[in-house]
Amino acid sequence: MLNGASLLVVDDEAIMREILHSLLERQGCRIRLAASGQEGVEQARAGTFDAVLLDVMMPGKDGLAVLEEIRGLDDAPPVIMITAFGTSKNTREAFKRGAFDFIEKPFKNDDVLLVVRNAVAQQRLMSENRVLRQNLRAQAGRFSDIIGHSPRIRSVFEIIAQASPSRATILVSGESGTGKELVARAVHANSPRAGRPFVTVNSGSLPPDLLESNLFGHVKGAFTGAVSAKKGLFEMADNGSIFFDEIGTVPLETQAKLLRVIQEREFRRLGGLDTIKVDVRIIAATNVDLQQMVEDGSFREDLYYRLHVIAIDLPPLRERLEDVPLLARSFLTKYGKENNKPDLELTPDAMQLLEAYHWPGNVRELENVIERAAVLTVKRQIGPELVPDVVKASPSFQLPHFDMPPDGIPFRKIIDDMEVRLIVRALEAAGGVQKRAAELLRVKPTTLNEMIKRHGIRARASRTGAAASARVRAAAGSTDPGPAGSRSAPLMSDLVEAFDRRLSRAD
Ligand SMILES: Nc1ncnc2c1ncn2[C@@H]1O[C@H](COP(=O)(O)OP(=O)(O)OP(=O)(O)O)[C@@H](O)[C@H]1O
Ligand SMILES: [Mg+2]
Repeated sequence: MLNGASLLVVDDEAIMREILHSLLERQGCRIRLAASGQEGVEQARAGTFDAVLLDVMMPGKDGLAVLEEIRGLDDAPPVIMITAFGTSKNTREAFKRGAFDFIEKPFKNDDVLLVVRNAVAQQRLMSENRVLRQNLRAQAGRFSDIIGHSPRIRSVFEIIAQASPSRATILVSGESGTGKELVARAVHANSPRAGRPFVTVNSGSLPPDLLESNLFGHVKGAFTGAVSAKKGLFEMADNGSIFFDEIGTVPLETQAKLLRVIQEREFRRLGGLDTIKVDVRIIAATNVDLQQMVEDGSFREDLYYRLHVIAIDLPPLRERLEDVPLLARSFLTKYGKENNKPDLELTPDAMQLLEAYHWPGNVRELENVIERAAVLTVKRQIGPELVPDVVKASPSFQLPHFDMPPDGIPFRKIIDDMEVRLIVRALEAAGGVQKRAAELLRVKPTTLNEMIKRHGIRARASRTGAAASARVRAAAGSTDPGPAGSRSAPLMSDLVEAFDRRLSRAD
């Protein structure tokens, strides 16, 4: 419990300093000694301590005056007063001024240890509470759970479950609003560090000096305005996790220092000489391509590889549209509750619009759309009229997601195939009227006519989608049986099927 605690002993009697020093050092404490009240105040201001042991009776600045000054510091440590037997007036006065406890001389070693242990425990609790309060504030109004049942998000759950128990560094990447911070919190919450601090670093707009003093802390006098020593975020995250949001914004010069902390798990405060060791788990997030930044020379390659131990890549929402209904419903519940409108639901038409949109702002955008609808609706059922125009006006399909096979794909052939498919669909929708089909495709009638001839599409296409698919598959099988043929056929049919699904949803 006391191991690693940092203590300040202020006493004018050398023998008392000596006794306390050896007693507490045996418990694994780090100890600073001050021989006068003035020196005690200076040390308290210059360092960060878990507790101070302070003699009341000292020449010059006495214990009560020192107590008052220490209690006035930011993050003031608890102060244990050392009083002579029978000086209860002093004791009362000390409590009034915020002393944590007192020890009466002559003391028993065990009594001292008990009081110091309590003080250190309280100080640690206070600093953890501070971090927890910050976390709660940051989380207020948000879901802490990651919602989704698509295969892509399920594989994210799997990595979180596998990676959380270790201390391995994690790099979360994904577009804005895909849930990177949510994932970082989930990693922490599922790790053995869950009860310890989760500290977020937003390096965003900070100049390097300020960022570094935030990260590593500083000693008194490290720069103008550094009137007392301050713990940095790394120290605050000790035994917990530290989350670097938008790691790509960390300036190059700070990247070098970060690398050292990641490798050694130790650093120095700004202006300080002592090396401070911490046990932290590092989680970083980025919405920019760090590899590209490495190539451009704006991100250190060695740091990239240090961070990239476990990579969690969050898919954009448009690549897991099957999660939209689940997400939409859970946001409806959340915002329904907030607005005292229980049992809100989306009409099927409204839901369809949401499922057809490409969500450039990802889950955050969906959440905003639902919140807006929940606030504005006067009925239990939310219809398309409360779906924003931008969502309604979205193109009704995008290229389905696919992984590029190592030996590539027959681009021309796939494009030809898509062309045929789109034309057939447009003709169907236009009842075979080419002029209308050209309008639907936003091409000139002559262009459409030229394409119809080039692909050998029958002018009056069948009205059924099945016939159209058959027509296209036949075309796909009959042309270009080249070297990639055997591999490309299933890939193309996957694409075609996915496209079909999008199209039929848009119908
Ligand atoms: N899978 C999800 N389930 C529920 N809510 C989610 C999910 N993903 C994201 N959200 C919500 O969407 C919002 C954005 O999430 P978050 O802040 O984690 O995204 P981000 O990737 O860090 O975004 P940015 O890059 O803009 O910082 C939050 O309100 C979050 O609660
Ligand atoms: Mg974020």
